[in-house]
Amino acid sequence: MAALAPVAWPPPPIRTERLVLREPEARDRPVFIELLSSPDVHTYLGGPRPRDELERRLPETPEQWPGSFVVDLDGAMIGHVLLRRATEHSRPAAVGKADLGYLFLPPSWGSGYATEACAAALDWLDGALPGEPVVLTTQSANVGSMRLAAKLGFTEVERFHAWDAEQWLGLRTPQTQH
Ligand SMILES: CC(C)(COP(=O)(O)OP(=O)(O)OC[C@H]1O[C@@H](n2cnc3c(N)ncnc32)[C@H](O)[C@@H]1OP(=O)(O)O)[C@@H](O)C(=O)NCCC(=O)NCCS
Repeated sequence: MAALAPVAWPPPPIRTERLVLREPEARDRPVFIELLSSPDVHTYLGGPRPRDELERRLPETPEQWPGSFVVDLDGAMIGHVLLRRATEHSRPAAVGKADLGYLFLPPSWGSGYATEACAAALDWLDGALPGEPVVLTTQSANVGSMRLAAKLGFTEVERFHAWDAEQWLGLRTPQTQH
């Protein structure tokens, strides 16, 4: 994956009904460590990273790049929404397109926060890069993620086998009514 250029970054914080999407800050570092080392978060993502390695290697302010949104609920990070550019290592149907990813802390699951945050990030993308198609890859066994993809308007392009599991590649065609 590559950075999502060219976009003006960072945008002003994006406010939704319950959440704020903003650039990562140094105070988010412990939450990034929690998120990236959580076995529950990585059940369908090839396994978590060791906490001690993250403690040593993560920069003071992690994940500060165009398209990287911290999802903030009541002043604290609960998740990370990622918009990147799919490179030639991706599936042919995805190469060159914007790619959506999302990770939320387990206590925040089941409240619609992921849907609310991803919809806001996609709205931002529609404004920043009009006409941009977006792809999303998830394990088909990841039921919550599959439901989220459907709610966000992604439709199936293909299923394929990689990383020891069936993967689902979805596409969201550009929204033009803005
Ligand atoms: C994938 C993931 C983000 C989904 O989180 P989630 O909380 O289940 O997602 P949603 O925001 O869609 O919320 C789910 C449920 O909240 C419920 N909900 C409760 N209150 C709600 C509200 N006020 N508004 C909307 N939904 C609400 C909904 O009923 C919804 O369930 P449904 O899909 O059956 O309709 C989360 O499981 C996760 O972080 N997993 C680990 C990382 C991962 O696998 N990422 C995928 C890689 S791309």
